[in-house]
Amino acid sequence: MTDGVDNSKRRFLTIAATSAVAAVGAVGAAVPFVASMNPSARARAAGAPVEADFSKLQPGQMMRVEWRGKPVWVLYRTEQNLKDLPTLNDMLRDPASNIETQQPSYTKNPTRSIKPEILVVVGICTHLGCSPTYRPEIAPADLGEKWRGGYFCPCHGSRFDLAGRVFKNVPAPKNLVIPPHMYLSDTRVLIGVDEGAA
Ligand code: FES
Repeated sequence: MTDGVDNSKRRFLTIAATSAVAAVGAVGAAVPFVASMNPSARARAAGAPVEADFSKLQPGQMMRVEWRGKPVWVLYRTEQNLKDLPTLNDMLRDPASNIETQQPSYTKNPTRSIKPEILVVVGICTHLGCSPTYRPEIAPADLGEKWRGGYFCPCHGSRFDLAGRVFKNVPAPKNLVIPPHMYLSDTRVLIGVDEGAA
């Protein structure tokens, strides 16, 4: 092997690594997750449904999958999270999910989900498309004493609760989008298709 070969390989690896980092950054590197699943490139290109196995999630944790080039979060909410949701309604713009474009009809309920504890939501801000940050802490200094955990968009400060419902007086006009989905088992969910379409 000559130096030339080694160098060109090294250059290729550097470029490949940089591209991978850029791709992750584009969908929001700030979102913490315990596991990430990526469909095959072919499935992604076709916009195929994506399966997420969340059996390793503990209450309070979320994972991210990619569907049609968008981040989708699967969040395992705690019992306390679920108790907190109705207490926030007065501070929200669309607490009852009346804007029909933001969720399938089977998730137009107080938790915006099929299983109360599991939230499946597209992680893209409804203002200008940044990816909000998961902020599960209770009353952190920067978000105020009424914060019960939720998603904060770093671009222009929009806030969403742990059902993806948008707060009043922020730039985002609508709740986060709930994608079509259906459960394949207790801990496996298929994103991008639902019973109605199956
Ligand atoms: S893009 Fe999220 S607040 Fe503007």
